[in-house]
Amino acid sequence: MFDKFNNDDSSYNVDNFELIKKTAPEVGKMIEKEYNRQCNNVELIASENYCSEAVLAANGSCLCWKYAEGYPYERTSGNKGRYYGGTEFIDEMEEYCCDKWREVFNTDYHVNVQPHSGSQANFSAYKSILKTGDTILSMSLNNGGHLTHGSSVNFSGNLYDMHFYEVDDNGFIDMEDVRRKAEELKPKLILAGASAYSRTIDFPKFAEIAKSVGAYFMVDIAHIAGLVAAGEHISPFGYADLITTTTHKTLRGPRGGLIFGRQELAKKIDSAVFPYAQGGPLEHIIAAKAVCAVEALDPSFKVYQHQVVVNCKAFCKEFIDMGYNVITGGTDNHLFLLDLSEYEFTGQDLQNKLDEVGITLNKNSVPNEKRSPMKTSGVRIGTAPMTSRGYMEEDFIEVAHRIDVVIKELASK
Ligand SMILES: Cc1ncc(COP(=O)(O)O)c(C=O)c1O
Repeated sequence: MFDKFNNDDSSYNVDNFELIKKTAPEVGKMIEKEYNRQCNNVELIASENYCSEAVLAANGSCLCWKYAEGYPYERTSGNKGRYYGGTEFIDEMEEYCCDKWREVFNTDYHVNVQPHSGSQANFSAYKSILKTGDTILSMSLNNGGHLTHGSSVNFSGNLYDMHFYEVDDNGFIDMEDVRRKAEELKPKLILAGASAYSRTIDFPKFAEIAKSVGAYFMVDIAHIAGLVAAGEHISPFGYADLITTTTHKTLRGPRGGLIFGRQELAKKIDSAVFPYAQGGPLEHIIAAKAVCAVEALDPSFKVYQHQVVVNCKAFCKEFIDMGYNVITGGTDNHLFLLDLSEYEFTGQDLQNKLDEVGITLNKNSVPNEKRSPMKTSGVRIGTAPMTSRGYMEEDFIEVAHRIDVVIKELASK
């Protein structure tokens, strides 16, 4: 279904635009323009993807207006019950969604499918095991971590005592630094996972270090969840106490989050989502998450995730062969970081110039960044969306040369 998603396929969702235009013409037109942009541009944002029409349909279904604060009856031992009537089918849906996600990751962990986003999943996951002021050891934003991993402008950096492990001179996570800081700080939680890290993360080693200092171990697989589900990246299940993810990146589902945790944390996780952080769950999104899980269980999902990685390696190698500096010198997953520190122009300049020629990516900080987060010395490049649209290695290699032309133009100014 995804390879049909290109500018020749005018049937995709067009009826919806017309429907919206009848009521709110301006909104309909704006959505249509964005749809056309998404169809015509080369989309290289590593945190984005295209979801299926089935996911979109569930997203826009009648579950959208149903209130169902609480949890389905049989699911957890502690947090039972809904606070609204008429939830018979919603309960069935949410339990089905939970079961399917456990199946996707082949786990018996507890799962909460209600977080509205990855950030909210992290907020509630921390809350389930930590008190304000507790120490967390994680990866900083500059080195590839997410805002919710301790940035000073985020709740995480304000509520918790954040410390960060470093990457080595080549950009790889420095596991000796993780061990040293863990022993020194005795954190309550060690966090692995990132938004801009192109290499395999050693979950067994992280878990061993966490255990040796009595810390909880949590992994945020928001970026690599699809790869984990398909066996393209080592799984954190069995190693981590808590695992969070988004459903809209490599998983190719609706926008949203999930929290998995060891069974003994079930009640605390559920309470930390509702009533602590959220009110009514977005049941239409939960239905779309269920569709996404069903798709992830289809054999074609594994083929897709494998191609995402194969494409990324070929794309990255082409830049290296052309003489560019790639952080860590390669990639094991769906993304890589082009280091532009040697140039006068910034990551922001390249992002803007590429926008003009229909190539969409985002500026990104690099380790030891000297520029501000609004400028940056790098760009992040991902292969998940265009692989959904049927791109193979040779297509990405062609795009690498198109980007090279733009970089040379910027460098010559
Ligand atoms: C590693 C990681 N965790 C959490 C999030 C937050 O997800 P959301 O944007 O849904 O809040 C992101 C988003 O980019 C991410 O990369």
